[in-house]
Amino acid sequence: MNFRLSEEHEMLRKMVREFAENEVAPTAAERDEEERFDRGIFNKMAELGLTGIPWPEEYGGIGSDYLAYVIAVEELSRVCASTGVTLSAHISLASWPIYKFGNEEQKQKYLRALATGEKLGAYALSEPGAGSDVASMKTRAVKDGDHYILNGSKVWITNGGEAEIYVVFAVTDPEKRHKGISAFIVEKGTPGFSFGKKEKKLGIRSSPTTELIFEDCRIPKENLLGQEGEGFKIAMMTLDGGRNGIAAQAVGIAQGALDAAVDYAKQRVQFGKPIIEQQGVAFKLADMATAIEAARLLTYQAAWLESNGLPYGKASAMAKLFAGDTAMKVTVEAVQIFGGNGYTKDYPVERFMRDAKITQIYEGTQEIQRLVISRMLTRN
Ligand code: CAA
Ligand code: FAD
Repeated sequence: MNFRLSEEHEMLRKMVREFAENEVAPTAAERDEEERFDRGIFNKMAELGLTGIPWPEEYGGIGSDYLAYVIAVEELSRVCASTGVTLSAHISLASWPIYKFGNEEQKQKYLRALATGEKLGAYALSEPGAGSDVASMKTRAVKDGDHYILNGSKVWITNGGEAEIYVVFAVTDPEKRHKGISAFIVEKGTPGFSFGKKEKKLGIRSSPTTELIFEDCRIPKENLLGQEGEGFKIAMMTLDGGRNGIAAQAVGIAQGALDAAVDYAKQRVQFGKPIIEQQGVAFKLADMATAIEAARLLTYQAAWLESNGLPYGKASAMAKLFAGDTAMKVTVEAVQIFGGNGYTKDYPVERFMRDAKITQIYEGTQEIQRLVISRMLTRN
């Protein structure tokens, strides 16, 4: 067993860290305040090859692996969790199902555009009445000759409005419940496809979260992804890997908060010495660092399993569960270490704390991760 990252992975981390610190961090607070998505940052990620990290070169990717991908999401989230999730949703949720279930034509047309970053992707599963309970979705797709006609709405869609390519799940046979759901690729600009409310959020405020509306939206039958009735399986398998992207986001947020807290504790003097010399503060930092390391190991392990063709669903859910809770705990403690300053927007830790909360909610709440993990335990 070898716990050292390869030279390739170390080089990628260095490159993404430099990019994150120089090009993403300087505007992170301002974009958060203004709830502003910056396409220019995504375009620069594309230039660096980050938008297609795990995909083969024949589809416009850089032919690396899922470990490299989670390292990139971690490093981006260390300075800006919104930028981290932009990439995570783009790769894990929009590109992955096309890579895995798309036919050659769909891969050349859509995966290539996503991998090169020419287009931004999104994944539309959740509905007003179907969040945790995916199988209760109502959006309908009815076959009509060479087309499917979509009606319904999706909510909470990350990259919504900004993305050009959407993987959308809809019911093709209501009698069959989860076996009657299918997946479709829908392009922005398709008549009958529009955007509703843009959410005003606690955290990840520069990541757009939008409602999608389908009103007699005609999609060519060529845009069916996989087979009719295969949509629920595609959605679940996509989330198996996606959850590890969120674990990486959580590790990054926690690391960003820890780094800031250590720096602050070294220079803030009370009772005649830096507060890091108070055991109460130093032990807090030690616990934070230990939890982050454990979360990182779970995350890298899940990525390694996926990269090596081994089962990774349980490992990924465990990583998301543990890393999400770690990010929440660590960021709360980081604010505490900053004292009153931590409660202001003069320092980044309040943003990290607001951003951390979402990692316990999306891609399946922490309760749903426990459901997924416990069901797998009973199966083995
Ligand atoms: N891989 C393959 N097949 C799977 C599977 C998986 N991971 N999980 C379930 N299935 C199959 C089951 O084997 C079963 O198949 P059969 O009918 O052939 O036996 C079928 O799917 C139904 O499975 P369940 O009975 O487990 O289904 P369920 O209705 O009880 O739901 C659930 C399971 C895990 C709770 C699921 O509804 C779920 O994941 N909910 C959470 C939703 C979620 O995570 N949403 C995230 C949206 S994206 C997002 O949030 C984006 C972002 O962060 C940026
Ligand atoms: P509910 O399902 O209503 O859950 C409410 C509470 O009940 C939770 O605490 C939950 O854990 C608990 N609960 C529900 N069922 C059970 C159970 N069986 N056992 C125990 N507890 C349970 N979705 C997409 O499709 N694409 C996206 O890109 C996307 N991005 C998102 C971005 C943001 C910022 C947010 C907030 C959400 C996003 N989502 C996205 C949706 C997200 O995945 C859902 O919010 C999440 O799955 C929970 O669904 P819900 O909000 O309907 O909560």
